Amino acid sequence: MDHKNGSVVTEFILVGFSGGWELQIFFFVIFFLIYSATVVGNILVIFTVTFSSILHSPMYFLLGNLSFLDMCLSSATTPKIIIDLLTEHKTISIWGCMAQMFFMHFFGGAEMTLLIVMAFDRYVAICKPLHYKTIMNHRLLNRFVILSWIIGFIHTISQMVLTVNLPFFGHNIIDNIFCDLPLVIRLACVETSLELFVVADSGLLSFVCFIFLIASYTFILVTVHQRSPARLSKALSTLSAHIIVVTLFFGPCIFIYAWPFSSFASNKTLAVFYTVITPLLNPIIYTLRNQKMQEAMRKLHFQHFSSTQNF
Ligand SMILES: *[C@@H]1O[C@H](CO)[C@@H](O)[C@H](O)[C@H]1NC(C)=O
Repeated sequence: MDHKNGSVVTEFILVGFSGGWELQIFFFVIFFLIYSATVVGNILVIFTVTFSSILHSPMYFLLGNLSFLDMCLSSATTPKIIIDLLTEHKTISIWGCMAQMFFMHFFGGAEMTLLIVMAFDRYVAICKPLHYKTIMNHRLLNRFVILSWIIGFIHTISQMVLTVNLPFFGHNIIDNIFCDLPLVIRLACVETSLELFVVADSGLLSFVCFIFLIASYTFILVTVHQRSPARLSKALSTLSAHIIVVTLFFGPCIFIYAWPFSSFASNKTLAVFYTVITPLLNPIIYTLRNQKMQEAMRKLHFQHFSSTQNF
């Protein structure tokens, strides 16, 4: 190990957004509002799914779980980003940084798996409607949900066991608003192929999942079109919500992790998108476009709440 480059790093410095304090305060207000809406919106979806008497379809259990993961994913980075906007010296301890990356990839990996489970759920519901209730039974659903947590854990731990052991000397400036794997790995004082591993583990994986999901949704639509063209528009309206969510989730991930050698890794707009904005969009997309969800919310007397919050 080369200790000549400087002292052992105990904390990283996050560069954050450029711009004067007016801009920082503007971002602070916007992000604070977005984060509050994310927490309220996702909790609303979880409550509605859990307590409503009309949302018994497996799809809603999965939606409730997706909302939970969204809330966790956003909470892994956004509160720290918001606090940092008001501080001049944005530092994060090395363990805080490792924890941030661990949880981001944990919840992100679980969400990725859950999106595939949701595609499978739509496939069974639309292409095998008569067997839907028997195939998507409670036991299978529980297993799918547990599986998504396990895959999330394996995904994150495989990258983090290698990252925590990296030697950091001297260089400690991260040109972003939170700790992200490609940037942190680049600061390490060692020749490492870890970056390539991350490209495969996060980048390639998101890319493959994305292509797989889009192909599955296309397959479902083609099947519906062949069997009963009349039902195509209904299928299209349910599936388009799923396709939007999948694109918003995977798009930024692919850009950031599949090309970590490029400048996308420190692209703060992309970073904002996949940690701050996407977790809010999911509940909006699913509830605004889903009449059954809206009806369930009204029945649970969330009407006033949901209309003021615009959900
Ligand atoms: C998540 O999925 C499980 C398994 O089906 C279900 O029992 C649970 O209610 C779901 N959670 C939420 C918040 O919807």
